[in-house]
Amino acid sequence: MSVPKAELHLHIEGTLEPELAFELADRNRVELPYADTEELRKAYQFEDLQSFLNLYYELMAVLRTERDFEDLANAYLARAAAQGVRHAEIFFDPQAHTKRGLELGTVVEGLWRALGSSEANHGVSTRLIMCFLRDDSAESAMETLRAAEPYLDRITGVGLDSAEVGHPPVKFREVYEAAAALGLRRVAHAGEEGPPAYITEALDVLGVERVDHGLRCMEDPALVERLVRERVPLTLCPLSNVRLRTVDVLAEHPLPAMLDAGLMCTVNSDDPAYFGGYAGDNFDAVRQTLGLTDERLRELARNSFLASFLEDDEELRGQ
Ligand code: ADE
Ligand code: ZN
Repeated sequence: MSVPKAELHLHIEGTLEPELAFELADRNRVELPYADTEELRKAYQFEDLQSFLNLYYELMAVLRTERDFEDLANAYLARAAAQGVRHAEIFFDPQAHTKRGLELGTVVEGLWRALGSSEANHGVSTRLIMCFLRDDSAESAMETLRAAEPYLDRITGVGLDSAEVGHPPVKFREVYEAAAALGLRRVAHAGEEGPPAYITEALDVLGVERVDHGLRCMEDPALVERLVRERVPLTLCPLSNVRLRTVDVLAEHPLPAMLDAGLMCTVNSDDPAYFGGYAGDNFDAVRQTLGLTDERLRELARNSFLASFLEDDEELRGQ
């Protein structure tokens, strides 16, 4: 659906379509263990978050140069614009690239070549959010934050992603304190596969302004009440939840119950190349399968701008 919307939960590496993966593999002479795009697509059958992450990190091998990151981001922005996205807050995973020997500057400058001209080229305003890999150490996260200091004019905030269970938010207390001291906005994945207590910890210990996913809050009525009272935005990703089996089928997604409870929900695509749809596809899917009314869909679109890191005057332009 092409209602104007902001996308607040989008991993740029998760927008790597098979066709572009093979194009970049050729360009950079990287061998992929798949014969062609068809065989690669067949690998998109996931049991859980980890089985997806294994493929997600494997395919990043084709991203080598500034131009690769620029092409990746431009391809996403063009697709997002075609589905009504007017503003995108884009995650990237610096450690997944620096551990392969890339410079952080290659990643940030490459992405910026696309993001810096996105309003003019695609009609999409952007923000960049640097995520720490929660299954890597807190020391590595802190080193990454320090390495990012020369690029803080391009980075709006920090996030926390990758394998959730066993890596509670508290592990990153110091790095989030340091990020706050640098004036960075804070978000974190919590309650995707991890328990509701991780959501509480992300709020209380990391000081996050939004919770990415937050789906499992529904298991804790007191937490739901708090999230409603404090109007904490949740960046839900319905197609992702089905593909990663946190929800059995889309028809059983708790989004309608979450809206009825008064939660400030938004709908996003997470890793659209892997999960079968961009932001508009996620809107279409919840409209068709969950029977959301037009009023509910407008609420979701309105929430996406309200929960964004746009300034008030920019927000109004988006709607
Ligand atoms: N990295 C990319 N997509 C992710 C997701 N859905 N959850 C956690 N980490 C991720
Ligand atoms: Zn995510």
